[in-house]
Amino acid sequence: MRIGMLTGGGDCPGLNAVIRGVVRKGVADYGHEIVGYRHGWRGVMEGESVRLALESIRGLLPRGGTILGTSRTNPYKSDDGPAQVKATLATDRVDALIAIGGEDTLGVAHKLSRDGVRIVGVPKTIDNDLSATDFTFGFHTAVQIATDAIDRLHTTAESHDRVMVVEVMGRHAGWIATYSVVAEGAVPVSGAAELQSSEVDEFGHVHLGGVGNWLQQEIEKRTGYEARMTQLGHVLRGGTPTAYDRVIATRFGVEAIDAVNEHDFGTMVALHGTDVVRVPIEDAVSTLKTVDERLFETAAVFFG
Ligand code: F6P
Repeated sequence: MRIGMLTGGGDCPGLNAVIRGVVRKGVADYGHEIVGYRHGWRGVMEGESVRLALESIRGLLPRGGTILGTSRTNPYKSDDGPAQVKATLATDRVDALIAIGGEDTLGVAHKLSRDGVRIVGVPKTIDNDLSATDFTFGFHTAVQIATDAIDRLHTTAESHDRVMVVEVMGRHAGWIATYSVVAEGAVPVSGAAELQSSEVDEFGHVHLGGVGNWLQQEIEKRTGYEARMTQLGHVLRGGTPTAYDRVIATRFGVEAIDAVNEHDFGTMVALHGTDVVRVPIEDAVSTLKTVDERLFETAAVFFG
């Protein structure tokens, strides 16, 4: 078989580990040919691809980011986008696609799958907000980076008798924040979300960030303590994946190529407990997975 692969949406540690898993098993064990599309769905629409051979994956496991590049391009934003995707796959004689992404990339995968394109999805995002999987890879690395940063902020906070506010990514779900501090998507009870700009991307997402500034001022006003805000931002997505993320990303990659090999299309690989399983892509993208209440209650024991 000739199999296409793409990485879409915000990059995330572990993407290269998935690519490595797919290529290693796909080429070495099954004898498939793997084609990587550049910059997410944009590369599929524009026919920009690169052949992924065993040499392409050497040394890839610890490398952050994605060797394929990524974008937030949405083929359903233009009338002929889905047709362009199909035309590229036909021209490239690609039998099936592996789409590695979050709710947006897999939302597109779900629609294309309903439209007859043979697709298997792999759940990626530092936000951990995809349903039907216990964890996405990248999340664990982001939490580790936030934890390391907070440990460092403690000593400077103590020295100055200050309150430190740390703002983390994670959009509206708040998973990273529950495992560490304040979420960029947090909204004051009487107010609106803080935005970096009023622009939206092709999937309708606003650019969040800045609630930490608001919180810093409120803390100063209400407690009299001096406060400082640190926004961790894209640092949470950079660099090498943790050992845990390397392992689940690798397992996801291997399971994805197995699913393609077995023609189990329209599915997404997922983590259930300690098992890697397959679920319908639809189950992952139909609702946002927000923080579990019991987990929040446990975190709340340590508030204040
Ligand atoms: O979805 C991943 C994520 O890192 C979010 O946590 C964050 O809000 C967003 O992407 C940032 O997007 P961009 O990379 O376009 O600034």
